[in-house]
Amino acid sequence: MIMSNSPARRAHCPNLTSLQSHILKEEEQFPTAGGDFTWILSALSLAAKSIAHKVRTARIEDVLGDQGGAANVHGETQQKLDVIANDILMTCLGNRPSVAVVASEEDEQPTILRRGNQGGKYCVIFDPLDGSSNLDVCVSVGTIFSILRNDPNIPGAAETLQQPGIKQVAAGYILYGSSTVFVLTTGTGVYMFVLDPALGSFVRVGDRLRIPASGRSYSVNEAYRHSFPDGFRQYLDWAHAHDYSSRYIGSMVSDVHRILLKGGVFLYPPTQKNPGGKLRLMYEANPMAMIIEQAGGKAVIGSTDNPAGRLVEIVPTGIHQRTSVVLGSPDEVDRVLSHLT
Ligand code: AHG
Ligand code: MN
Ligand code: MN
Repeated sequence: MIMSNSPARRAHCPNLTSLQSHILKEEEQFPTAGGDFTWILSALSLAAKSIAHKVRTARIEDVLGDQGGAANVHGETQQKLDVIANDILMTCLGNRPSVAVVASEEDEQPTILRRGNQGGKYCVIFDPLDGSSNLDVCVSVGTIFSILRNDPNIPGAAETLQQPGIKQVAAGYILYGSSTVFVLTTGTGVYMFVLDPALGSFVRVGDRLRIPASGRSYSVNEAYRHSFPDGFRQYLDWAHAHDYSSRYIGSMVSDVHRILLKGGVFLYPPTQKNPGGKLRLMYEANPMAMIIEQAGGKAVIGSTDNPAGRLVEIVPTGIHQRTSVVLGSPDEVDRVLSHLT
């Protein structure tokens, strides 16, 4: 018989920590915090559960496919679920009294919910459904978010958002994969939670994650190789000669999540079609860069004029600005940079 306090018994009854209690515990370190942050994270957690449900039942409810000609601000075809996920996030965050401004990759303009003098302390920026063109074929997609402070002295919504990534107070993503995973950093390391459908809660499964220092795999859309700058082509030749593996899903959240856990490097170089890169600085690159750096990795621009510049140091000039991206294990990012500089 297994006694209740035996090691074997304890192994089957782990001390469950929910996302909610994790945040409450973190806030205890800041006695003046007042719970605002907990409310925002709980809105994101609720939105994530709702989007996860929509993603999983999309084919049954017939909400796959594109929105019927609608294009977003980037000129890309909007999927029905892009719009649904966007609405869910807007609704959940709109109810939180400390959220001043929300901005979505899908919307041309940010939305001002309340001013600083009405209690609006934070801005929340998000890519509601990253990788959404993969939805029809049941490939993992994700939500990416970034939280910034609202400067009450700046009247315009876009201007208050145009802060470099080093100013992010939190960032994270939710991956709707074979399980629903919530990865979060508030600047004190990276934590990972998995949705337990029976409990309806995100349960902590990883503390202070560290990205492997190296990993013999690269993640890039190699079909564009002909239009990459020379240094990227040379890096790919080097990687081929050294028996690296190629892994590319085409959903940034999925590709970066794999690299966070297994090591390797993710690249979206400049191309002839997108000379400044394709990925969105504020909705995609900055939050992922904060997570990777907090886990001990590197996240650089990889542009011709500033290859080793940190993504999080770019001062945005527009909220929908794009950038090239190289991020992942520190040794692998350095290897790419050795071919770019
Ligand atoms: P989104 O679905 O939010 O528009 O983002 C798609 C992004 C990103 O997830 C992925 O890494 C990249 O686009 C893929 O681009 P290519 O198809 O050009 O490889
Ligand atoms: Mn995206
Ligand atoms: Mn998107």
